[in-house]
Amino acid sequence: MTHQFDVIIVGAGGAGLRAAAEIPHGYTCAVLTKVHPLRSHTGAAQGGVCAALGNLEEDSPEWHAYDTVKGSDYLGDQDAIETMCQDAPRAVIELEHMGMPFSRTPEGKIAQRRFGGHTRPTDPNDPDSKRVAVMRSCYSADRTGHVMLHTLYENCIKNNVRFFSEFFVTELLSENGEVSGVVAIEILTGEIHVFHSKVVMFATGGNGRIWRITSNAHVGTGDGFMLAYHAGLPLEDMEFMQFHPTGLWKLGILVSEAARGEGGILRNKDGERFMERYAPTVKDLAPRDMVSRAIITEIREGRGIMGSDGTQYVNLDLTHLPASVINEKLPEITGFARTYLGVEPTREGVPIQPTAHYVMGGIPTDVDGRVRLDHKDGIVRGFYAAGECACVSVHGANRLGTNSLLDLIVFGRRGGKAIVQFLKSGAEFPKLPAQAGERTREMIATIKSREKGNRPAPLRTELQQVMMDDCGIFRDAKGLQGALTKIEALREKYKSVTIDDKGMQFNTDLLEAIELGNLLDTAELVVTCALNRTESRGGHAREDFPERDDQNWMKHTFAYQNGTSRPRIEYRPVSVTKYKPKKRVY
Ligand code: FUM
Repeated sequence: MTHQFDVIIVGAGGAGLRAAAEIPHGYTCAVLTKVHPLRSHTGAAQGGVCAALGNLEEDSPEWHAYDTVKGSDYLGDQDAIETMCQDAPRAVIELEHMGMPFSRTPEGKIAQRRFGGHTRPTDPNDPDSKRVAVMRSCYSADRTGHVMLHTLYENCIKNNVRFFSEFFVTELLSENGEVSGVVAIEILTGEIHVFHSKVVMFATGGNGRIWRITSNAHVGTGDGFMLAYHAGLPLEDMEFMQFHPTGLWKLGILVSEAARGEGGILRNKDGERFMERYAPTVKDLAPRDMVSRAIITEIREGRGIMGSDGTQYVNLDLTHLPASVINEKLPEITGFARTYLGVEPTREGVPIQPTAHYVMGGIPTDVDGRVRLDHKDGIVRGFYAAGECACVSVHGANRLGTNSLLDLIVFGRRGGKAIVQFLKSGAEFPKLPAQAGERTREMIATIKSREKGNRPAPLRTELQQVMMDDCGIFRDAKGLQGALTKIEALREKYKSVTIDDKGMQFNTDLLEAIELGNLLDTAELVVTCALNRTESRGGHAREDFPERDDQNWMKHTFAYQNGTSRPRIEYRPVSVTKYKPKKRVY
C-alpha cells in the first residue's frame, strides 16, 4: 500500500511530537512509530527539563550555556548551545501553556531542582568565580518525561496529526541528495507500506540496547541511525555514549539524578560519601561522566558492595530525606527500588550501578533540524532529524542531566518550523525510487526462508556483554580491538539469522531479527569511532590516552559507510564562540 503525506515523522517521542504539533492545518502530517506513542522512551525520562527560569534563585541562560559547554568537555558546538539555552525558558513556558502539569513552588511557579553540572557563579559578575549547584531543572515529581509525552500527544491529536502506531520503518527512500519517504512494516498485519512524502523527519531515539545494562526501553535499537547511515549519510560523534551513574543494580532501570538533586548521597561499602574526593565543590552533583567513573573506580579499588550474584554496586542513600520529599518528589524511583530490588529507600541504601543511557552523537543536523549531507556544509533536501537520534551538537562529549528533554522541545519545535518554511517554499513530492519496498520484501523473505541458522537472542546477548566489557565507561585499544573482532564474528553469524515464526501477524521474532542487524551495525560503528579517538573527553575515557587532547581532537567525528569495510572517518571542527577550552574541574 502507498500513502502520501506532506510530512512523515518517524518516532513519537518528545522531539517527533513537538515537531508534529508545529505542522499547521492545511498540510498533512503522519507520525510513524514502532510502539504506541505513549510508550515512547521519552516517557522514561524522570528528573526534569532545564531552563534558567530563576524561579527559586538567580539564574541566566548564559550561565546555563557556560555549564553546558563545560559539561560537554568543550566538544559541544557553542553557537548551537547558546541557541538552546536562550530558547529554554520560552520553550518550558510554552509547554506549561500546552497543559503540562509541572510541580509547583508554594507561590505557584514552576518548581525547579538541582541537577549535576548545573551551577551559578557565587559572584554573578564573574562567571569564573566559584560555582555552586543551581535549581534549574523544571519537573513533575520524577515523571517529567511521562507527563511531557502525554501533553505533546494531546496537542498532536488536537492538531489532526495522523498516527501510524506499531509501524516499523525499514528503509529511508532517498536519491541524489533528496529524500522521498520511507518503507515500513505494519506490525499487526505484516503488510509493507510505502510512505511517499515531501519531508521526512527522524526522531527515532538512541541505541542503548547495544549494552547489557541500560536504562533504555527495548525500542532503543538504533534503527534511525542505521537507516540514515545505510542511505549513505554520515553519523557524528558516535563514540560518545553517556552512562548514567544511577541505574538500579543488575537491571539498569533509571534512578533519576533528581534523587541526588533532592539531597541523596552516594556511599561506598564503608559508608563513605566518596564523591567528596572526586568533585569537592559539587560532590554528588558532578556531571554524569565523572560520577560514573568515580563509581567504577570505587568498585575497582575494592570499595564496592558485593552483591549476592558476585557483581558489585554502591548505595544511593536517601534515608536522611524527609518522607514528604520521598513521597511527593521521588515516588516513581523509590517505588522501583521496592518493586524490583525489594529495598525500602526510607530505611536502607538503594543499590545502583552506571547504566548506558544516552547517545551524545547521531545524525548530524544544523540548529533547524536539517540533516547534514557531509562533514562540510551540505544539507539533504527534505530530511530532518531531532531528539536523541540527532547530533546538533549541543551535548558534545557529555550531556548534562535534563538537557535532553530540553533538546527535544527546542529542536523539535525548530525542526517543525523549518519544515513548514520548506513546504511553503513550494516543495514538491520527489519521485519515488523504482520498486520502493522491494528491498524490505526481499529481506523478510530471506530471513523467513532459512530453516536453520542462528537465533537472534543469543547473538544479541553476546553483543551486549561485549559492549559492557570492552566499550563501556573505561576503554583502551586492546579491549576495543577485541570488541571489533567479536562484533565482526557476530555479524558473520547474523548472515544466517533464522526465526521460528514464519507468519505475518505481530511477528516480533522477525522484528527482533531486523533490530539485531541495526544493533550490530551501530555497535561496530561506536567501537570503530572509540578506537579512532585517541584521547579522553567526557563520556569517552581511554585508559591508554587518559588526557583530553585539544591540540588534535577539538573536532567532531563523521563516520560514513564504506562498502563492506570499516567506516570511513572524516572530521568537522567544533564551533567555538566565547568559551575557550579549560581544564574541567568541579
Ligand atoms: O536522571 C534523570 O532524571 C535523567 C534525566 C536526563 O537524562 O536528562
